[in-house]
Amino acid sequence: MLRRPRRNRKSIAIREMVEETTLTTKDFIFPLFLLEGKNKKIEVDSMPGIFRLTTDLMLKEIEECLKLGIKAFDIFPVVDEKYKDKMATQSANEKFFYLKALKEIKAQFPEACIMTDVAMDPYSSDGHDGIVDENGNILNDETLEVLADMALAQAATGIDIIGPSDMMDGRVEVIRDVLDDNNFENVSIMSYSAKYASAFYGPFRDALDSAPKSGDKKTYQMNPANKHEALIEAELDADEGADFLMVKPALAYLDVIHLLKENHELPIAAYNVSGEYSMIKAAAQKGWLNGELAMMESLLSIKRAGADVILSYFAKEAALLLKK
Ligand code: PBG
Repeated sequence: MLRRPRRNRKSIAIREMVEETTLTTKDFIFPLFLLEGKNKKIEVDSMPGIFRLTTDLMLKEIEECLKLGIKAFDIFPVVDEKYKDKMATQSANEKFFYLKALKEIKAQFPEACIMTDVAMDPYSSDGHDGIVDENGNILNDETLEVLADMALAQAATGIDIIGPSDMMDGRVEVIRDVLDDNNFENVSIMSYSAKYASAFYGPFRDALDSAPKSGDKKTYQMNPANKHEALIEAELDADEGADFLMVKPALAYLDVIHLLKENHELPIAAYNVSGEYSMIKAAAQKGWLNGELAMMESLLSIKRAGADVILSYFAKEAALLLKK
């Protein structure tokens, strides 16, 4: 035999030498759930090991993560039902706990890269990412104004990256415009470009209590059956001024990550979503999988598919392992 591929697998030294993809802590953005109040920490039942944290405890968590080499965080608010309404009014209220906390976090850790989420669902009494009319339709253009106000309020706290996760048409342009008009031209946009209507968001909606009260998200989030449509979304977002293009979820959409990477010069992000986290955790708890190995293999596969940036609830655990 002239060719024996096994020769390049015969020792750790050689295996590492020929390794094509290397996962590093620098690849990660760690999503965090923010609670109102002080000194409270509530585990998400469907996401073992993931906690909703009040600002004081989140500051400690960020400090620990920075020491591990995680430099970027995506922060989502857990909004009490009493603050929710049809227009997501609290999303642009600078006195609201989310915006106050972002300011505090940036002031304490200016070196940390802080990303925020733009969509109506955490603040919406309908649990939708846009305004819902009396017939249950999600209104696109009317929603854009709400999103622009929200993005501007978030930018004013000093954060680094805005993450529109709403999937309304035209939102990147509207957000870019409002940021530029208000001297926030250095605030980046990581657009959820190919965001699919996925069952894998279930645990996240538990964490935020943000599940739609009626209807589903299929009129704005993408159909899991479609791959080439992701190119349309990505092209629009790039033209409208996005700095990063995101695919979400990650594991069931590795082909889409690959496709966007091959077709775009912008950095590609992938969101390893809540359900992808919970599946591995649940199987590991039952002793059906080696959780650490399954975690590292799935993160590696996301990077191998073409992701430059990985948003993952595994970020801290993986960073600890990578440090060893
Ligand atoms: C909504 C939003 C969702 C996630 C991030 N932003 C859920 C949804 O669209 O219903 C899901 C993240 C995850 O599952 O980890 N704007």
